[in-house]
Amino acid sequence: MQIIKQRNQLTPLSTQLRAQGAKIGFVPTMGALHQGHISLVEASKKRANITIVSIFVNPTQFNDPKDLEKYPRPIEQDIAMLEAAGCDILYLPEASDIYGPVTQVTDKFDLAGLDLELEGASRPGHFAGVAQVVKILLEITRPDILFLGQKDFQQCLILTQLINSLKMPVELVMCPIYRESHGLAMSSRNVRLNPQIRQKAGAIYASLQYAAAMVNILTPQEIQQAATAALNTIEGFNVDYFLLLNADNLKPITPETPTNRIVIITAVLVDGVRLLDNMVIS
Ligand code: PAJ
Repeated sequence: MQIIKQRNQLTPLSTQLRAQGAKIGFVPTMGALHQGHISLVEASKKRANITIVSIFVNPTQFNDPKDLEKYPRPIEQDIAMLEAAGCDILYLPEASDIYGPVTQVTDKFDLAGLDLELEGASRPGHFAGVAQVVKILLEITRPDILFLGQKDFQQCLILTQLINSLKMPVELVMCPIYRESHGLAMSSRNVRLNPQIRQKAGAIYASLQYAAAMVNILTPQEIQQAATAALNTIEGFNVDYFLLLNADNLKPITPETPTNRIVIITAVLVDGVRLLDNMVIS
């Protein structure tokens, strides 16, 4: 695996590989890799000839400086995992290679209001930071296919909107959520949970399964209330939101606006660690 730290090396290489006919897959990450990230690398290796992974803990998407500081950075372990997974190129930039001298969001994006709900409501400015860094990363890596995880469902919708509005020539592939054996969605933040509470966090997936089973029996409001109440009874759990929404636009489902695709989407603070999960049902 080639490790590249500078865009002025990566962009010409990517351009040259494409000119030679290679299809390039790109997996952006913030490191602290787990099997969920590796499943995206595997998806890329199936569809593309060359897989580029980036590791960059993007400061502009953290609205809490403590969260940025605490974000795990086990870079040697990450490199070993990517080598083992058969990643071709790791882009490992400093902030200055992405942003230049000042690390900030400079573009104004049309995110169709998708950035204001859910994670956006709890973390103002988060999605502007995500959109900015992914736009820059796409300009640097110039992939044919961008691989993202369904775990961050709202992020997938927002980046779809970004790519469409900017008419960027890249296909977006959303890969399924990779889970721990007891159902908890894998996340770089899971290492912050103590083993007992990490085990209990499997209840989040169970609550999604409950909601999916009830979808034709109870109203969305009844399901939301029951699931929220059940999760909040677990010590250390605090539900930020648990909602059934239209999976295409994250709008509420009402009798006047029925939908074929529903996303059951939740964020739960578990011992202060923010855990996201979702399930899409037709
Ligand atoms: P990060 O949280 O490191 O996630 C990188 C990619 O891995 C995202 O597309 C995310 O959805 C996916 N992912 C995380 N956990 C997963 C799981 N359990 N199963 C499947 N895929 C999973 O998301 C980001 O970084 C950043 O916002 C980024 C897009 C890199 C921009 O900075």
